[in-house]
Amino acid sequence: MEEKLKQIQQDYLNKINSSKSLKELDTIFIDLFGKNGEVDLLSHQFKNLPKDELKTVGPLFNQIKQELEKAINDKRLTINELIYKALENETLDIKGGKIKDRKGHMHPLTAFEEQTAKIFNKLGFVQIDAPLIDTDHNNFEVLNIPENHPARDLWDTLYIDQKSKIKNQKLLLRTHTSNSQIRALKSSKPPIRLMNIGRCFRYEAVDARHEHTFEQFEIIYVDKKVSMANLQYLSEYFLKAIFGEDIKARLKPKYYPFVEPGVGVDGLCIFCKGKGCKVCGGIGWLELAGAGMIHPNVLRAGGIDPKEYSGIAWGFGPARMAMIKYGIEDIRVFNSGDLKLYENK
Ligand code: DAH
Repeated sequence: MEEKLKQIQQDYLNKINSSKSLKELDTIFIDLFGKNGEVDLLSHQFKNLPKDELKTVGPLFNQIKQELEKAINDKRLTINELIYKALENETLDIKGGKIKDRKGHMHPLTAFEEQTAKIFNKLGFVQIDAPLIDTDHNNFEVLNIPENHPARDLWDTLYIDQKSKIKNQKLLLRTHTSNSQIRALKSSKPPIRLMNIGRCFRYEAVDARHEHTFEQFEIIYVDKKVSMANLQYLSEYFLKAIFGEDIKARLKPKYYPFVEPGVGVDGLCIFCKGKGCKVCGGIGWLELAGAGMIHPNVLRAGGIDPKEYSGIAWGFGPARMAMIKYGIEDIRVFNSGDLKLYENK
């Protein structure tokens, strides 16, 4: 047994000395100390040894075990030192290789919305906030859309699964920035010029033109004698500021329960300038917003007398406009986190 131990000691010391990598050392360590390794197997044989032999072999076994373990650790340190030395002498050639110059810019939607806010700040519109999780009351009822009214079908709404209702209110993810209207009307006295830019959510079948999470840009303008003429003027002012002086706006009749009359705001197609092309589907115009004269019921819900005041409101889709402006073909890219969206071309 003693012979065998010494043989193992010699063999493994040689292996350790001639090893050149940490990986090789790991293998040696496992062969020695791992399950069914040399040490393991030897220790199983001890029970068969006569007592006197065990007296000499036992301590020798422990001594060899410690010696080999130390030899492995020492060799590890030596190899590590060699690695560090080699790294110290290594240099990184940053002149020769091509490192990609990744200059970026703001998210196109953020840039677009900042530009929009600036344009309307100059016209005296002040930005307000409204919650993304809101009550059914603020998102629908005060906007002249009672519960069970068929007009609710215009919005594929994501309701919140509530264990208990807060103040008996149904909660939902706001389907539009129009939930800011009641707050705007209640919190200020005419003349009111407020805007809300932010996220909205719908239970949408997502495709290149529809997202479940998207942005809207709402304005609320209330004063004496505000009319459709103001709406036409402001729409065109906005489109010209974004797309250029030769872009016109037109209003066409459209139904929204919270405006009367309600309109769709079209912008002259920036690609074909009205001739008709693939982007505008041959129409020459692109629909960019819903808008209209604020319904008397909505004004009343906000504590404003519709006999004295009138107002206009709209909801533009910044994503649609940014897609047109920057030539983005798929709306899903905005929320994708794809770095291409931030890179300077
Ligand atoms: N909230 C509407 C929508 O999400 C858009 C809209 C239409 C906003 C008419 C308005 C408005 O302020 O007056 O489809």
